[in-house]
Amino acid sequence: MSLTPDECMSRALDLALDYPFTTLPNPRVGAVIVYDGRILAGGYHRGPGTPHAEAHAIEVAEKMGFKDFKNAELFVTMEPCCHKNAAKRTPPCAPLIASKKFKRVWISHLDPNPLVNGKGIQQLKKAGISVKTGLLGEVTPLINQAFLKNQKEKKSYVTLKMAMTFDGKMADDYGKSKWITTSASRMDAHWLRAKVDAIAVGRNTIEADNPSLNVRISKLHPIPRKIVIFGQPRNFSNKLKVIKANGKNQVLVIDDKKRDLDKLLKELYTQRDICHLLIEGGPHLSGRFLDEGLVDEIVVYYGKGFLGGQATYSLGKDWGSMRLEKAIRFTPDDVRLIGPDVVVQGFMKHYNPDKKRSGR
Ligand SMILES: NC(=O)c1ccc[n+]([C@@H]2O[C@H](COP(=O)([O-])OP(=O)(O)OC[C@H]3O[C@@H](n4cnc5c(N)ncnc54)[C@H](OP(=O)(O)O)[C@@H]3O)[C@@H](O)[C@H]2O)c1
Repeated sequence: MSLTPDECMSRALDLALDYPFTTLPNPRVGAVIVYDGRILAGGYHRGPGTPHAEAHAIEVAEKMGFKDFKNAELFVTMEPCCHKNAAKRTPPCAPLIASKKFKRVWISHLDPNPLVNGKGIQQLKKAGISVKTGLLGEVTPLINQAFLKNQKEKKSYVTLKMAMTFDGKMADDYGKSKWITTSASRMDAHWLRAKVDAIAVGRNTIEADNPSLNVRISKLHPIPRKIVIFGQPRNFSNKLKVIKANGKNQVLVIDDKKRDLDKLLKELYTQRDICHLLIEGGPHLSGRFLDEGLVDEIVVYYGKGFLGGQATYSLGKDWGSMRLEKAIRFTPDDVRLIGPDVVVQGFMKHYNPDKKRSGR
């Protein structure tokens, strides 16, 4: 039975998601080549310096001996690029696709990069290829929220990750947070770290927990991340795990509580190449970003049960209004069970290259 166009684009999206590490500053993209209603080959992008999804899919098809693309269709989650510049390490895809003379190219959403935006499509059309756009256009941008914000606002994308008891405590009244969730949830959080390029914490968290803040996934070598510490930790030295694990040059200390955080996100993106910042607490720092409306996405791991007590380490202790009508609204997009823990994920904002679909 032939696959429908929606099913083919869905497969391209699955392929884009197959790569579990960050591709930033590049977007996640997946592509499939369909011939006679069946998927012949697929590809996905794995970050700067590696082939783009379309080129990868074509390479796979050619390795299988497929040479004539005239009756084949290409499904790609984002508009093929068409520009060359000094910083770009891989050749543009639109001319490659044009040279293969595909019967039709299906594109889910446009590339917001002004060097591409619509021009990739024009190049394909000029080459006589039929182009259809918008298929799954509500869904595919969700995998590229960081890239889309980077392009649109020239600022780092912010994901706030928290572990909480079911009554919202991020540590007990003695400041102990090891461990609110199970080791399976903590491994899941390492996969979250794998998808970002930087991690931020407040100085109290460094002092209380001495965390490494790198990516540690079973048999893989630990992967360092760029680190931003808010406030100057006491006893800041090379002995701290965060420095040992990520390297001193990768650790930035911001010791100015009055710093405009919105402007800082711009600086982190334009001057430090931080595309996606994962805030890992504690409650004081997390609350500040949330209160100032600077969080794009939230991931909460709930575990342990109910702690009661003084709520010394609950989110927003220093700014929460305690009035229902003033609550910062949050609607989950996804809920998962990991053993006895619950993971809730949701977007605070939506970035979409098609302006009509942006916002929340
Ligand atoms: N459950 C979780 O997900 C989780 C995650 C991380 C940590 N924790 C726990 O949370 C506790 C620490 O949390 P915490 O709320 O006390 O501290 P925190 O958020 O880790 O650090 C807050 C401190 O950072 C400094 N800072 C500098 N710039 C800031 C800014 N712009 N906004 C906010 N803070 C800024 C301030 O230090 P100064 O006061 O010196 O100015 C402030 O007191 C620990 O017990 C840790 O175990 C839990």
